[in-house]
Amino acid sequence: MNLKRPLFCSLVFALATPLVSFAAEPAAAPAPDVASLQKEIEDLKRLLPGQAHVMSDVDHQYGNLWFAARAKNWPLATFYMNESRLRIAWAVRIRPVRPLPGGAEIDLRPLQTHIEQSAYADLKAALDKHDVKAFEVAYKKGLGECFDCHKAIDKAFLRPVVPKSPGASVIAVEPE
Ligand code: HEC
Repeated sequence: MNLKRPLFCSLVFALATPLVSFAAEPAAAPAPDVASLQKEIEDLKRLLPGQAHVMSDVDHQYGNLWFAARAKNWPLATFYMNESRLRIAWAVRIRPVRPLPGGAEIDLRPLQTHIEQSAYADLKAALDKHDVKAFEVAYKKGLGECFDCHKAIDKAFLRPVVPKSPGASVIAVEPE
């Protein structure tokens, strides 16, 4: 009987030791100060992709959407449609309000909501029905709504048109 007690005690000790040292660890680490956290946040912000960078994904996805739908590849077209819609939302989250020349500002969120509820709703309906004609109409409406936002940010030179070939940019190189 007596032999069991030291065994029990050492078991308790063995089990408790890692718990004790684990619990002690965070207290031993120095608490990060606000200034170093702020610096870390600034460093991380510099690693985030810019708005234009994310928009160049939209270029690729919206361009390929045209060819996928006209080839009646409905799953691929639906994929590009959704990806481009989500990328626009991401681009807007990166910088929701942009400064304009002359000191004014433009809030991109209402423009993003508009294209979602307008052209993207029509695109989804057309793809769900496998309707190429309705798709083409919705696609061109979408190009107009892309352009509305680019005009609103004072970048009317970013004029999207139906792309000439898969992988080509939707931005027209010829001036209007
Ligand atoms: C809610 C506003 C908004 C909408 C809608 C929008 N864009 Fe943009 N777009 C921007 C902004 C902001 C930029 C970045 C401008 C900059 O920082 O120079 C941009 C830039 C671009 C660029 C240039 C990217 C580069 O650097 O090469 C392309 C291409 C583009 N958009 C395509 C599209 C297409 C295609 C659509 C529609 C399917 C679209 N955009 C819809 C706001 C919008």
